[in-house]
Formats: sequence, structure tokens, C-alpha cells
Amino acid sequence: MPSTVIVGMQWGDEGKAKVLDFLAEDADLIVRYQGGANAGHTVVIGDDRFAFHLVPSGILRTGKVCVIGNGVVLDPEEIIGEIDELATRGVGVKGRLLISNRAHIVMPYHKAVEKAQEEGAGVGKIGTTLRGIGPAYVDKYRRTGVRAMDLLDESILRAKVAEGVKWTIPFVDGDNPALDLEKTVSDYMGYGERLGEFLVDSATFLNAGYAAGKALLFEGAQGTLLDVDFGTYPYVTSSSSSACGVCAGTGISPRHIDRVVGVVKAYTTRVGAGPFPTELLDETGERLRDVGGEFGTTTGRPRRCGWLDAVGLKFAAMLNGVDAIAITKLDVLTGIPVIRIAVAYRIAGKETREFPVGVAALEAAEPVYEEMPGWEEEIGDRTRLEDLPDNARRYVDRIADICGSETALVSVGRNRRETIVAGGECN
Ligand code: IMP
Ligand code: MG
Repeated sequence: MPSTVIVGMQWGDEGKAKVLDFLAEDADLIVRYQGGANAGHTVVIGDDRFAFHLVPSGILRTGKVCVIGNGVVLDPEEIIGEIDELATRGVGVKGRLLISNRAHIVMPYHKAVEKAQEEGAGVGKIGTTLRGIGPAYVDKYRRTGVRAMDLLDESILRAKVAEGVKWTIPFVDGDNPALDLEKTVSDYMGYGERLGEFLVDSATFLNAGYAAGKALLFEGAQGTLLDVDFGTYPYVTSSSSSACGVCAGTGISPRHIDRVVGVVKAYTTRVGAGPFPTELLDETGERLRDVGGEFGTTTGRPRRCGWLDAVGLKFAAMLNGVDAIAITKLDVLTGIPVIRIAVAYRIAGKETREFPVGVAALEAAEPVYEEMPGWEEEIGDRTRLEDLPDNARRYVDRIADICGSETALVSVGRNRRETIVAGGECN
């Protein structure tokens, strides 16, 4: 397994962290390549529950090195909090966590601008996580952003913060603390002191690792349908959350990506605004939310829930070029008599199997469903695909068929041990 990408195939919250934690066993280096503290990853080991936003979830595997790539936008206060929290729970990160010195930094004015935009937007509201992600990427592409290495140089930092404040003034009240240049410089120099030991040229580090035969695991955040280029724009996040983002976000050549594993939740969820053709606004939707615990790790918002969408999945499988899939939360469907899968959309009387590019078409799309019989048996203790109830097995096979790939893993419960490792190879 020289290098593997783990990517979400829907709108995020597919359960990537659990799959990642599982595959991390055979990896040496675990790498985040995009997004920031908008992500929320929960891993449950025994009775312990860990929630991360920035630190790769692979940190719980001892001996693994976790890397935050250049494509991530880093909130220093958040990552320091996570490092401290891990330390109090007995997980040391020294020498095991590296941060790209090229990664862009989320600043107080990014959060202030985002809050103002989201509050003022009305109909155009995206429903973001308010973590400053979009404005931090704007700053990066405007070429005025603060990079991690700038936290070590006060004069560069001050000049960039002054520039950032200048761009922010039109959007916020004059007394907004985000405009306080001196406080921001002093806080962020403090963060630089804490984080300095973690900063490296991660592109060089990762390429050296690859050349030395280390196994790399790339951890996608969010999901393919939230990708800034290929997702349901403008209801997307501001980074390349499909597998397409790995190279730019890490400095690893496309020639050195060997395998892509797509993570598919057995039904669909979405947080925030935007089209969602298979959304269920009825009791079944409520049931999925309750049984699946579908509340955001980052914002606590209830997630919108609905049936599996084969139209979106096929599109995601194509973009990511998945070699294998990991199916999560299959147990949540236990007890539902009839399970539906959208296999096409009807838009203005016409049937299509292609994922529409425009939001208007997606909003108008009525799903065309295929039905499959459900199962009643609890499946949390099943350890082989062959042990699943026949109907659950058929559902798993149908998902693999939609994605045109093999099934590598099926998750049947929250815990690490509640995982079926299928014949298909993950690594
Ligand atoms: P942003 O990433 O905070 O800018 O939010 C943009 C959109 O992406 C919103 O609809 C968010 O709810 C969604 N989003 C961002 N991060 C996640 C995630 O980790 N899981 C699910 N949705 C997310
Ligand atoms: Mg999440």
C-alpha cells in the first residue's frame, strides 16, 4: 500500500474517520490535504469518544506520523486545543504531528467576514460552519494570506494582518475585535511559539517518505459533492474535497497515488443549505437522524437525512476513480422494511442518470426510486459479509455495483471492532 486516498462520496459525514482509523493500522504517514476545522471526525474506541477537527484521526494509532498538508487552512487556536486535549487523555503528539509551513492560517477577520456574510445573506445563505474557511481560502488566492511560517516572523505577520484588516473593514463594525491589529499579532505570535516545533516543508517530507517506501494515507475532509469545483456550487465548501485535491494539497505527484477508497454512508445526509434530491422530511428521515445520531460534530446542527442517491454516487465514483468502497452505518437501516435508492432523476418531465451541474436542475429533480427489501436482524456482531442477512448483503452488493468497484469494508456499528473487512483489499 504505497499511497491510498480515503474520500467521502456524498456531502460529508460519511464516517471517514472510522474507516481511516481502521486503515491507519497499515499506514506510516496519515495526511490531511484540504479543509480545516470545518471538518469533524469522531472515533470511538471502547468507551472513549474522540472528536477531532484538524488533527488527522490517525493520531490515535501509536507510532503513526500525522501530517497537515499545505492545502489545509489551519486555525492555530483550534489545533493547540486539540493537541492539549490529546495530551490530557494520554496521547502524545510530539514527533508524530507535522504541519506544513505553507499551510494558510485562519485569522479572526476571516471568521468575522464569514459571520457578516452569512447573517446578511438571506436566501443566498450557504449554512457554513462559521470557521472562517471560505474567507481564509479567499485570502490565499488573493495572495495576501498568512502562512504558517509567517507566525515565526513578527514583521511579516504584522504587515499581512494589517492587509487582512484592511480588506475586512467594509464588512464589519468598527469595534469588532477582529480588527484589532496589535492583539491579533500578539496572539498569533504566541501561537507560532507553540506550533513552531511542528512546522516543516511537508511536501519534501512526504516525498522522501514515499521514496523510502512508506505507506501514505490521505484523509479527505467533507465529501465529493461539497467540492468547490465539482460539488453543488455554490452550496459547497471552499476546497477540493474530492480525491482531485490530494496533489495540490500535499505536493505529491499524481503518479504517486496508488489507490482510492471511497466512503459511502448507507443513506445520505447533508448539513447546511443546498439541493438534496433524496431528502426525507418525514418519519423515515427522523428515524435515520435518531438512530444514526446525525448531528454535526462541529456545529451540533441536525443533519438533513435521506435515501441513498445512486446518481450522485456514480458521479463521485467517476471523479474519484475509486478502486474500492467502504460502506458505513449499515446497521442504521436495520428494521426499515423497504429501502429505497434513487437511480435517476426526473427533471421537467425528463429522466436523467447524470448528476446535474446547476443548482436549479438539482432543486427541480424528483428522484426515481428502486426499492429493496430490508432486514430485521441486528448486525453489529457480524464479522464477515457472508454472515450478513441476505437482504443486507444484497444492499451492500448493489452499492458496490453502483460505484463500479469492490467493497473493502462495511461498518456495522460505532466501535472499531464493529467492522466487516471484506475480501476486497483496502490497501
Ligand atoms: P464551510 O466549509 O464552513 O465553508 O461550509 C460550507 C458547506 O459545507 C456548508 O453546507 C457546511 O455545512 C458544509 N460542511 C463543511 N464541512 C463539513 C463537514 O465536515 N461535514 C459536512 N458538511 C460540511
Ligand atoms: Mg464530519
